[in-house]
Amino acid sequence: MRELLLCPPDHYGIEYEINPWMSRARGAEAAIAQQQWKGLYETLLRLDCKVHLVEPVKGLPDMVFTANAGLAIGKKFVPSNFRHQERAGEAPYFAKWMEAHGYEVTWLPNDYYFEGEGDALFGGDTLFCGYKFRSDVKSHHKVAEMFGCHSISVELVDARFYHIDTCFCPLPDGGAFWFPAAFDEYGQHTIRDHVTDLIDVVEEEAVHFSCNAVVLDRQVVLPEGAPNLVRQLRDRGYECHQLPMSEFLKAGGACKCLTMFLPQRETI
Ligand code: ARG
Repeated sequence: MRELLLCPPDHYGIEYEINPWMSRARGAEAAIAQQQWKGLYETLLRLDCKVHLVEPVKGLPDMVFTANAGLAIGKKFVPSNFRHQERAGEAPYFAKWMEAHGYEVTWLPNDYYFEGEGDALFGGDTLFCGYKFRSDVKSHHKVAEMFGCHSISVELVDARFYHIDTCFCPLPDGGAFWFPAAFDEYGQHTIRDHVTDLIDVVEEEAVHFSCNAVVLDRQVVLPEGAPNLVRQLRDRGYECHQLPMSEFLKAGGACKCLTMFLPQRETI
C-alpha cells in the first residue's frame, strides 16, 4: 500500500505571486478548492492509499503543495530549502511532521535551493531533477550523494513549468509522459536517451497540468483537460482518474503537487 502526505486547504489562497500562474487579483475560490482537494483525497483513498495529513498553518497558503515538503527515500528525509521567502516558513512544519513519523531528517546547507519531490522524481533507478527556476544543480548533486542514488539534472526553460513535476511524469513500466518544450535541448536529449516509450503531451494539454499526475501502479490520477494523453495512457493499460483542479491551477499546482510519496522509494 502506498503512503502519501497531503495537507488540507484550510489556509490555501493566492496571497503572493511567485510563478506566472499566480494572480492575487484573480484569487482562488475557497469553497471550490475545498471540494476539489476532497475529490483528490477521496480518489487516493479509493485507490487504497494510506493518506496522512499534516496540519495546515495559517499564513502558509502554499503548504497544500506537499510535494515541495522535501524528498523521502526509505526512512530518510531531506527537507526543501525554498527559493522564495514566501514558502520558506513551511519547511520546519514539514520536517517536524516527518521527524514525528520516524524519519531521519537531514538538512541541506542553507544556500542550496531544493524544492523536494516537486523537482525530483524517480524514473526507474534514476532520480530526474529539474533546475533553474526553483532548485539548483548543486543541490541535486548533494541530495543524490546524501541518498546514494544516481541522479540526472535537466534544465527547465519555460517559467510556466517551473518544477519538474509540472512537465514530466515517470511511469512504472519505464516510460514517462512529458511536455518536451519545457526542457532545453540538452535536457530533451538526455530524457530521450534514458527513458523509453515517452508520451509527448501537447501544449494545449500540458497547460492543464496534465503531467502533474499521481501514478499508483496502473492508476493515474491527473487533472482533467487532457483527452489525448488519457487515450494514450489507456492504450497502454493505465486507468485514468481525471479531476477538476481549477482552483489549484491558479497557484501553479495540481494533483501531484498536492501529494508527496511517503517515501517515494523504499530503497535505492
Ligand atoms: N504556488 C506554489 C509555488 O509556486 C505551487 C507549487 C506547486 N508544486 C509543485 N510541486 N509543482 O511554489
